[in-house]
Amino acid sequence: MTHGKVMPPVALPVCLLGANVLGKPNYCTIAWFTMIDDEPPTIGLFTGKDRRTVDGIRENGTFGVSVPSAEQVVAVDYVGITSGREADKSEVFPTFYGKLGNAPMARDCPLTMECELKQILEFGGTDLMVGEIAEVYTDEGAYRDGRPDAAELDPLLYLSTAATYHRLGEKVADAFKVGRSYSGKK
Ligand SMILES: Cc1cc2nc3c(=O)[nH]c(=O)nc-3n(C[C@H](O)[C@H](O)[C@H](O)COP(=O)(O)O)c2cc1C
Repeated sequence: MTHGKVMPPVALPVCLLGANVLGKPNYCTIAWFTMIDDEPPTIGLFTGKDRRTVDGIRENGTFGVSVPSAEQVVAVDYVGITSGREADKSEVFPTFYGKLGNAPMARDCPLTMECELKQILEFGGTDLMVGEIAEVYTDEGAYRDGRPDAAELDPLLYLSTAATYHRLGEKVADAFKVGRSYSGKK
């Protein structure tokens, strides 16, 4: 069965991409983001051509990435449907800055990181913002046994085809382990 060329339904965690625009923080919602490399720690976010937040990234060469929890859904959706070109979004999330000094992060998000812009790769409808992570900040409570705890982070997932938000479901298995029991039988 073929379905054309658009990717079928997937659940993606969303983040808030933040940049200072003319000295004020501006945030937008991003679902298309990924780690690119471990060393140096490199992250990539795909942004539409007209994003106000990108003006700030180009202006400062820095950006913040904040991973919200599900309970922040209203504000997260708001900054994803309203451009900084039409409204001042600087007060939507209380902001803090880290060592880069001008990469805004949302204080109430349990996991945030500040990044230095390394490269912009241009595609037809999007640009890939490639950034090196300078520092990661977490709520103390969001860590368990030295690792971020998914239940505490309570990340907000976006289901693209249904255009709905979801929480994480139950654990299914241990990654990099469960496959050892593969027997080849169906
Ligand atoms: C759930 C959701 C996911 C989104 N994912 C992306 C994305 O991955 N890349 C992107 O450029 N815009 C994405 N958007 C749209 C931007 O957040 C939106 O255009 C925003 O208003 C841009 O704000 P700005 O112009 O102030 O930067 C998403 C919006 C929502 C609601």
